[in-house]
Amino acid sequence: METSLNRSQQSPIEQSGASGAPASDPTAVPEEKVSGEFDPRKNLNPDAQTKIQIENLNFYYGAKQALYDVALPIREHQVTALIGPSGCGKSTFLRTLNRMNDLIPGTRTEGEAIMDGRNIYDSAIDVISLRQRIGMVFQRANPFRKSIFDNVAYGLHIQRKSREAIQETVEQSLREAALWDEVKDRLKTSAMGLSGGQQQRLCIARALAVRPEVLLMDEPCSALDPIATLKIEELITDLSKEYTIVIVTHNMQQAARVSQYTGFFLVGKLIEYAQTVDIFERPKRKGTEDYVSGRFG
Ligand SMILES: Nc1ncnc2c1ncn2[C@@H]1O[C@H](COP(=O)(O)OP(=O)(O)OP(=O)(O)O)[C@@H](O)[C@H]1O
Ligand SMILES: [Mg+2]
Repeated sequence: METSLNRSQQSPIEQSGASGAPASDPTAVPEEKVSGEFDPRKNLNPDAQTKIQIENLNFYYGAKQALYDVALPIREHQVTALIGPSGCGKSTFLRTLNRMNDLIPGTRTEGEAIMDGRNIYDSAIDVISLRQRIGMVFQRANPFRKSIFDNVAYGLHIQRKSREAIQETVEQSLREAALWDEVKDRLKTSAMGLSGGQQQRLCIARALAVRPEVLLMDEPCSALDPIATLKIEELITDLSKEYTIVIVTHNMQQAARVSQYTGFFLVGKLIEYAQTVDIFERPKRKGTEDYVSGRFG
């Protein structure tokens, strides 16, 4: 379906290095040549299983409703990006998935988020083990005032892992977070001495150490420079082979580069959810088209 999207303006997919040209265009560069690591089509699995199915989700801060009838699947081992203007409910939605909103007094969640046959919003769910299965990385890196090693080992001590297991998992998590080579000779020094980008990778290592199944990331690069951002984006792409990832981002290029599925939110409603290429190149809703083409937000 062709839309009225302004073609003189490159879509984020084209800007991110993936060819958006139709296959019939004789000047089109073969997608393989231009896509590099960041073509969302490269890692797209259209048959991916659903890891979490959200239905009829309504969320309230006291009397104020912040999410309206949200429904979407979170696909396993894929990256789902959540986009939309400030205040539209992206963070609120993300926090419902591991019940972080429970920590805010007066909040109420209605609806379902089914993971492995159980509703995450069910009051009988053990929230501590839920948060081990669904980890979170925040906008600002928030390392503990402890050593690099102890930051990553933190959740493992709580899980009462053996010394050997902790040693092994700390190294493995730091390797997965693409930080090991930079810190292996200074594991006992303070995490506060790391750069912002390193601190964010440390927080990712800390989240990975408890072996979550899902990783929620709320604007994980917004405080980082372009090089550190690129590292995290490469990392997200790598991690999605093993983990299911949901990322909130204000950066359209980032959504286009790292995600395979995208949800567009507007004033608490999920306006459109589709494969990332479709959201950026063939949006079905006018609001999505306006937003991804930069006409508002
Ligand atoms: N603790 C809170 N108490 C009351 N209202 C809140 C609270 N947190 C968020 N809200 C409101 O809920 C709505 C959604 O906020 P949310 O933080 O989820 O938006 P967002 O899409 O993440 O925005 P941004 O892009 O600016 O981070 C906003 O109207 C916001 O003011
Ligand atoms: Mg937010």
